[in-house]
This record gives sequence, structure tokens and C-alpha cells, in this order.
Amino acid sequence: MLEIAKDYTLALEDVPNFKPEDLSKDQVVRLKHEITELLNKRNAVLVAHYYVDGDVQDIAHETGGCVSDSLEMARFGRDHPAPVLVVSGVRFMGETAKVLSPEKTVLMPTLKAECSLDLGCPPDEFRAFCEEHSDRTVVVYANTSVAVKALSDWVVTSSVGHKIVEHLKTQGEKILWAPDKHLGHYIQQKTKADMLLWSGACVVHEEFKHQALLDMKKVYPDAGILVHPESPSSVIELADVVGSTSQILKAASELPQNVFIVATDRGLFHQLRRAEPQKRFIEAPTAGDGATCKSCAHCPWMAMNELKTLKHSLEHFDNEIHVDPEMGARAMIPLQRMLDFPR
Ligand code: 13P
Ligand code: SF4
Repeated sequence: MLEIAKDYTLALEDVPNFKPEDLSKDQVVRLKHEITELLNKRNAVLVAHYYVDGDVQDIAHETGGCVSDSLEMARFGRDHPAPVLVVSGVRFMGETAKVLSPEKTVLMPTLKAECSLDLGCPPDEFRAFCEEHSDRTVVVYANTSVAVKALSDWVVTSSVGHKIVEHLKTQGEKILWAPDKHLGHYIQQKTKADMLLWSGACVVHEEFKHQALLDMKKVYPDAGILVHPESPSSVIELADVVGSTSQILKAASELPQNVFIVATDRGLFHQLRRAEPQKRFIEAPTAGDGATCKSCAHCPWMAMNELKTLKHSLEHFDNEIHVDPEMGARAMIPLQRMLDFPR
């Protein structure tokens, strides 16, 4: 396994210090009601990620939309008959929805919701990297721009990445992987494939700490440890289950433990507690040696999906996602390969 020398991890000053507005209970009830009415009026469906505000997740559930991981968001948006998709998550999720359904209107509560992995993989530099290693099959994580996807052979999410790389390895292919070095490292360890890694990272998952997690495990010796594979390998090695957001939810239901330490964005705790109200879920630690608290275990971009901004986008039909049709058609090829890959 090789790794690109340049580090594309975002610096602290490039991560927004975003705090959602505090709302009273009455305001929340009113906004949820108004958003539900607007979804009906606009013939729109809400497609939300597990990391967004719990009230936004609840509206999606209650109105026949979806709350899921990034792979299911893509499938749901593509297959739903509504002409308007409101994607609550980060920009690459809205762009993926538009690529898969160019005929639909795709709105987002905000267009400022980025992702450190997407930002850490500039298309021009990535193109040069691909050209330098043209003997390799290019596999990119879904957390990338349309331009980067358009340069790839395969797009994968964390729920299917290792299976797709395993399949490519059996075909004798060497992989160029981007942008998440931790996920790439995890997949390489699992599959033993020949992988060259780009060097980006998620500012949320990179903060989880090995020693502090070991110390926490001493306090809760019977707890199960569930880890998203965007976390560093030293954290992954302590996990009982490593998986995407959906796979973490599934493990929390299926494993016998009553207490879990969970290393992923705290937005997922809304669904964990909803699905398993009798179990206890504890946030994995981000403090300790080398702590930065760039995000404090909550994605600042996901937090931008507030009720007020969601209502505003539906009311005014703004924050629409546009994708260059030619580039979208090119990005559709590797996306379609992922969606067609047997589950
Ligand atoms: P999932 O595919 O597990 O939903 O992950 C998306 C993501 O952005 C995690 O940080
Ligand atoms: Fe990107 Fe990390 Fe936020 Fe997921 S949690 S959207 S990988 S910055």
C-alpha cells in the first residue's frame, strides 16, 4: 500500500465554527407543520442523512421520505416518483441525487454544506494524480464532487467499498483510491488489494482517540464498540463492528450488549435511540493527546441543515443543485456501477 505524500486534511481554520440557532418547542412544532405542508404543496420528498438535525429526520420519516446512509439516499431519490427532491445532508449528496435524476428538481436547505473529504480532493490535482497512475483503476468515495466522480471508474460508499475493491482485486486490478486515507487504509487491510491512497480525511471521524477510547472501555467493560471506517486505524482496531451509518444501526439492534460506545457523528444517536430505546449509547471520546476539536464529533456542515433553512428552500425554491449535463452523464457511469453491484 502506498500513500500520496501531500496531506489534504483540512486545517482547523478552514472548518466552519457553525452553531445552529436555538429554537423554542413552539417554534419547532410550527416549523415542522409548515415544512410538512410545503412538501405536499411542492410535490416534494425529503431525503435526509442520519447526521442531520433530529427534527429534520423526524419530518422525513413522518412524510414518507427517507433517513438513511449515503448509499440508500442515492437509491431512494432515484427511485421515488416525486419531481422535487429536497436533500438534507451535504452538497455531494445533493449532487449525486441530481446526477441520478437529471430531470428532477433537487433542492437543499443550504448550498454551504460542504464535506472535508470533498474539499480535500480538488479535481485538477486529482486529474493529474490519475494521469500519473493511469495503470490503476480509479475508485472514489461518494464524498467527492461531480468533477472527481467523473474522473473515476467506480464510486463507492462506506457500506459497499470493501466488497467492490475485493471484486476488483479478483479481476487483477490495482486501485487508485481517493480521498479518505483512513477508509482506504481500512479497505486495504481487509482486502489486501494493491492500493495507492489519496490523503484526505473527515474532520469529524479523525478526532476519535485510541487511548481515550481504551480508558472509556475500562469504565464500561461490557459495552460494544461501533466505529465508522472514516476513523483512524488505531480506533478501528478497538471496534466490535466497523461499518457505515446503516451498518452501525443494524449492529446496535443485533448485538446482545445493552451499552454501546459509538465512534461516529452524534446525529446518528437520534436513530440509535429511536430504534433501541432500552439500550444506552455513549459518544466515543475526541479529547486526549493531540485533540483539536475541529468538529467535536459533529459535522459542522451537516449542522447547517436547520428547520428554518429547510422551510426557506421549499418556500422560495432556492438552493437548487445544478450539474453540468455532460459532466453529470460521465459521473453517472461509475455511480451506476455501484448501484448495480449486487448487494
Ligand atoms: P455513510 O455512507 O455511512 O452514511 O457516511 C457518509 C458520511 O459522510 C460519513 O461521514
Ligand atoms: Fe464529510 Fe465527515 Fe461531514 Fe461526513 S461527517 S459529511 S465525511 S466532513
